Order: sequence, then C-alpha cells, then structure tokens
Amino acid sequence: MNPYLKHDEWCIIEEGFVPENTRASESIFSIGNGAMGQRANFEEKFTGSTLQGSYIGGVYYPDKTRVGWWKNGYPEYFAKVINSTNWIGINVIVNGDELDLAKCKVDEFRRVLNMKEGYLERSFIAEMENGIKLAVKSTRFLSMVDTELGAIRYSVKPLNADATIELRPYLDADVRNEDSNYGEKFWEVVDTSCTPKISYIVSRTKKLDFHVGHAMRNFIALNGNIEHIQPEVNSSAMYVENIFKVEAKAGDEVTLYKYAAVISSLNHEKGSFPKVLDKLIDVAVSKGFDKMLQEQSDAWADIWKHSDITIEGDVAAQQGIRFNIFQLSQTYTGKDERLNIGPKGFTGEKYGGSTYWDTEAYCLPFYMVTHGQKVARQLLLYRYKQLDKAIENAQKLGFTGGAALYPMVTMNGEECHNEWEITFEEIHRNGAIAFAIYNYVRYTDDKSYLVHFGLEVLIAIARFWAQRVNFSQEKGKYVMLGVTGPNEYENNVNNNWYTSTIACWCMEYAEETINYVKSADPAKYKELAEAIKFDEAKEVEKWRDIRNNMFFPFDEKLGIFLQQEGYMDKEQILVKDLDPEERPLNQKWSWDRILRSCFIKQADVLQGLYFLEDRYDTETIKRNFDFYEARTVHESSLSPCVHSVLASRIGNVDKAYELYLRTARLDLDDYNREVKEGLHITSMAGTWISIVEGFGGMRVRNGMLTFNPLIPDKWKSYSFKVWFRENILKIVVSSTQITIFNESESSLTIKVYGVEHKVPGSSSINVPVQKQLF
Ligand code: BGC
Repeated sequence: MNPYLKHDEWCIIEEGFVPENTRASESIFSIGNGAMGQRANFEEKFTGSTLQGSYIGGVYYPDKTRVGWWKNGYPEYFAKVINSTNWIGINVIVNGDELDLAKCKVDEFRRVLNMKEGYLERSFIAEMENGIKLAVKSTRFLSMVDTELGAIRYSVKPLNADATIELRPYLDADVRNEDSNYGEKFWEVVDTSCTPKISYIVSRTKKLDFHVGHAMRNFIALNGNIEHIQPEVNSSAMYVENIFKVEAKAGDEVTLYKYAAVISSLNHEKGSFPKVLDKLIDVAVSKGFDKMLQEQSDAWADIWKHSDITIEGDVAAQQGIRFNIFQLSQTYTGKDERLNIGPKGFTGEKYGGSTYWDTEAYCLPFYMVTHGQKVARQLLLYRYKQLDKAIENAQKLGFTGGAALYPMVTMNGEECHNEWEITFEEIHRNGAIAFAIYNYVRYTDDKSYLVHFGLEVLIAIARFWAQRVNFSQEKGKYVMLGVTGPNEYENNVNNNWYTSTIACWCMEYAEETINYVKSADPAKYKELAEAIKFDEAKEVEKWRDIRNNMFFPFDEKLGIFLQQEGYMDKEQILVKDLDPEERPLNQKWSWDRILRSCFIKQADVLQGLYFLEDRYDTETIKRNFDFYEARTVHESSLSPCVHSVLASRIGNVDKAYELYLRTARLDLDDYNREVKEGLHITSMAGTWISIVEGFGGMRVRNGMLTFNPLIPDKWKSYSFKVWFRENILKIVVSSTQITIFNESESSLTIKVYGVEHKVPGSSSINVPVQKQLF
C-alpha cells in the first residue's frame, strides 16, 4: 500500500513531488470523456520515468499474436487501443534552458483532480539549474460537451528575475506503445500543417488504416491579457510546434491557452480532416477556455445528479466511491454504441482497452442505474452487433448451426485472447452476456429489446451450450467437460458448477423469451426463426432435456455446490492459514502449485449465487459463502465486491464492509502496487454494486424496486441515487432511519424490508432501519 494522496470529499490531491510516484499518479489523475482519455502526463518535458498515454476510443491496432506454442484456434492478433499523438505537450524554455522536473528542484508540487467539475490541475515551483525560480500552474480537461475537444491553460511566472520565456506547444505523432508485441510502431503520418493559426497532424494506423487527426491553436496572455503574438512555427515529419517568446519581468504571469481537437475516421471521412479540425478549433476558440470549463462543470453536475453516493463520517470512503464513479463516468458515456469499457479504461495499456465479460457481469448495473436505460442499452447493442462474429468464433472451434461463442477479449467481435485455457475454456462469458439482457429487461421493462435484438442473441447462446455439453453414459447425465470457471486458478476442469448452472439458466431464459416474443410479436418471431433456421420444437426440447438432466457437483455432507467435480480431493487449507509472505499467490507460487491448491482467485460458485440469488434460500447462500470465502484469495479485483454483496445478503455487515474496503480504494491506495499500469476501471463498478446492492440491498422484483438496507458501523449515513424507469430516487440510510426521496414528478411504489410504500412525486418517506428481510 502506498497511501500518498490526501483525503478529500471531491478531489484527489497529491502534494509534494516524488518521482517514484509519477507513473502511479499518471494513472490516477487520468482524464477522459467517453470518446478519448489521457493519462496525467506532464505538459512540459519530463525525462524521468513516465508512461505517455493518449487513447482514442475505437482506434486500435491488431498486434500480431505472440505465444510460445501456437495452438489451432488461437486468434492471429491481440487488439490494442493504442497510444496516439501527444496533444498535451508544451515545452518550456527559460533563458535558453528547458524545464524538466527530473532535472530541477521542485517545491510546492500539488496536483488536483477535481471530480466535481471534471478537470485536472497542477502547480509547482521549479528552481531551474540556471537559478530561475518559476511558478507553474496548469489546468486541463477533455470536454464532456464537445467530445472531440480538449483544452489546457498553462501559466508560468518567473519569481526571482526577469526572464525570456519560450512556450512551445506541440503535437507529436512519434509515439509508441510500451506493450507492442514486436516493438513495432503503429502509426504513419499522412499529412501535417504548421501555421501560426492552426497546426495539425493526420496520421494513420498501419494494417487497419484508422485515420486520426490532431489539431491545435494557441494563444498567449500576459498578466491576464491576451497578447496578439504570432508564433514562429517549426515542424518535422511527425511533429508540429508553435514557438512563443515573451520577455517577462519577475512576477509577470505568462499564460498559454492550448485548444486541441482530436478526430478519427470512425466519425469523419478521411478526406475531410483538415476542414473538420479547422471547424472544431473554431468552436473551441469562440467559446474560449472559461466557457468550455463552465460547460464541463455543468455537464459533470448533471452526471452527479444521477450518480452520486455520499458517505458521512468517513472521508476516505467518500473519496474512494466518488473516484470510482468519476472514472467510470469518464470512461463510458454510451454516446457511441461501438465503444465499450476496457478493464483499464483509457488509463493504461494493460488489457489493450478491449472488452471482457467484466462489462456485462460488473459494469452494466452501474450504468443502468446511474446513467439510464439508453446508456445500458448501448452496452447490450454492442454485443448484438457482434453476434455474427460470435457465431464465426464458435464455428472456428467446431460448433455449428448458428451457435455463438462470444470472445473472452475483443475489440470488434473477434477473439483476441490467446491462452488456450481461457480462449477455449472460459466459456462462462457467454452466460454473462445473456444474463445482462435479463438484468436490463428486469430493471427497465424494455421488452422491445428482446423482440428486436435480445432473442436472437439468446438463441445463439443457448445453441452453443446445447452443443458444448455431452451425455455421460457413466453418470446418466449431461456433463460439461474441460472448462475454466471465473476462478482462473483452475483450468480444464469438469463440471464447473457455475458454468453448468449459467448454461442451463441461459437455455431456460431463451425458452422463456421465445414464448414472450412469440406472443408479443408473432410476425417478428417468425421472421427471426426463418432467418436463423430455428427448429423450435426440436431445439427447445433438447435444451429442456439438458436442463432436466444436467450434472451439478454437490457436496452432501457440507451442503454446498462444488466448484467443480473433484474439488474436495484438494488439500483443504484456508486463506487465514496462509503465510502472508506467500501472498499474492500469483507472484509467489508456481502456476502448478496454484492449480493444484484449493485457493480460489475470484468469485466462482458465489458468482452464480449472486446472479441467481432468488433461486436460493439464505441458509444455502450462507453455507456456500462461509465455505468459499474462507478459500478465496481475491487476486482478481473483480472478486471482493461479489462476496461483499452476498455478505450483506446474509446479514454479515462487518464482513461486507471488510470486503468492500478491498475495492473501494484499491487504486487510490495502490494496494497491489500496480496502479502505474492503469486503473481497475471495471472493478470500480463492483465497488458501486457493493454499496447499492450490498449495503442498500437494492433489487428489482416483479417490476418493483426493493431495498433491504444495512449500514456499516463506521458510517454515520450514506446515500445513493437510483434512476429507475421514469423516476430518480435518492436513498439515505442512517443508523436509525431510511429516507427515500422521489426527485421526480410521478409517484412510485417501492418495497422497503418487504413492505410496500408509495412515494409521491417530489416528496419523501421515512422507514426505521430494521434487520434485513429478503
Ligand atoms: C479476471 C477476469 C477478468 C480480467 C479482466 C482477470 O484477472 O480473472 O475475470 O475478466 O481480469 O478484468
């Protein structure tokens, strides 16, 4: 743990310059706007350790697969959202010497991520080798309103002497990814222009020929007044620069305003780039920095209105949850259905910015409840549009007849993952994609989604499961062999309870949805059935037969679902008995030892109990929770949240809180000493789930919102927002009382602890805190 950040309710604050923390801070202080993201790299030159990162959603490179031992069925490439042109750069030269924080004395360094208003600020005093003391302050943001624009205000003030200040804002397309498989560069420059008014670089990615365009226009102000100075220009093949030279008196403040536009061929004709960039820069300049910043702040106020969580009595927890909400909200906005949420968002290179099952299993609830139905629907449509590729993917592995296997990792629907035990075996991801459809419809009641999109996906997934099982003559049951469950510390196991359970559930839900669509829109159903050659009688009959005769491993003595057949053959040791020196296991033990041990990386059986909770009584959940929690090392950041929700579900608030704490400040306190690689964006949604579904006990049952709140001892009160269909609710829970505000006009009936309450529009109700009742 490296808790170097200050606690504050709305801001992330770093004080003091510690070069070793630079990469970590670059991740933590990242900014984004759903369309692009930017690590918190310094504007001025920095020769210390840094990971330059500027990413554009949907612009990726298919980096040729690198494996030791090729296996048929492996994908040819791993898709990577790639580091693109550096648009933030501003070189600062004072009396001929370049400012570089790695080479001068730095005082009063302060970096603030203002989450309430959505901008990043940094200030410091640098004592340069030439003796000049310089006060520097920068503010920058990526506009949530004009999502192709970013802006920087960068001020320098010589404190102890008059000085010649050169500010050299630039665009640099000569960038690379640290994780490039073959050290290859992914970009080629197509066109540059460098004029005192506007400068731009258009570059293209190799192989896929994505074009991106970056433009800048710069202004100088002296002591707050814009100076109409013509910059000199300078350029080379992949670089354009403006040069402003100002003679400043000691105490004068020289400010550079840098407006940047960033576009890609996802949204614009390749030939139109110079014109589009020109227009965008005009928009920025005509609004000006202050107005753009005001709009940014308004846009964030709107986001917080639907999504804020408050925690009274625990500033660290308050900051943690807001940080998670902030990062999630700036990673994905739902404005573009081609985009999705990478496990690290736009904050680093790891995981390539690609889509994992994390989206459906963890992120969907957050976006659905706080950003509304439309945003959640976009996430589902992303997979709908990739159905053909999922069918192709299944065909490559030998499945037929329209069976779909969604990829474990993808950018465009094609599989990019290349470890056989995950690529071919971690097939439970198909279940999460089906479950997300169910979860969405349950919450929004948008059944039209099933008619137009959902059913087709559900049938294709059910078809996959029906072929993936086989009938064991020995057992007289269907079995599912050679799988990897969510717990990646077991590979190639037979009858993983979670995978078999979610598979059967998928076949059941597909049947239920067929019946719904058949009656709601018979013509549409007929059209679909014909298009996909669906033999309903035969196929559904097969699904039923599988569901009725599936083998599920169960331990009679303990009364628990077994993670997989043979799990109890393992030496049963508990996490509490592990030497802390041996943790994390994935760094300290051989892979062989991990595979043979009983230790569990992340929720597996418990993932199933979480999804399908209504099917199990509290005692069953409790028995399984106690057994598996004791054996789970939570070495995936996605794990503690599921355990936390279940701990709340069984009324164990202390355990729920302990597990909650493991994710809430995971990145801020850098528990795993890896935040430098990027933030754990998808697991941040899990933290939100721990509060809303865990402590708040929120569920939707029979179309009604229900709450069963409890409160951790450490908190005086907490509140969360829920956007449910037409209503926005604010739920406040203290140690004695629950208050539900209905912030909308229309009334809503909800249940608290099993009792119905009507909450009239624009008013609230109070209910005393009780023991939970599910
Ligand atoms: C987890 C997977 C997850 C992936 C990306 C892995 O460590 O085991 O469940 O999808 O990280 O977050």
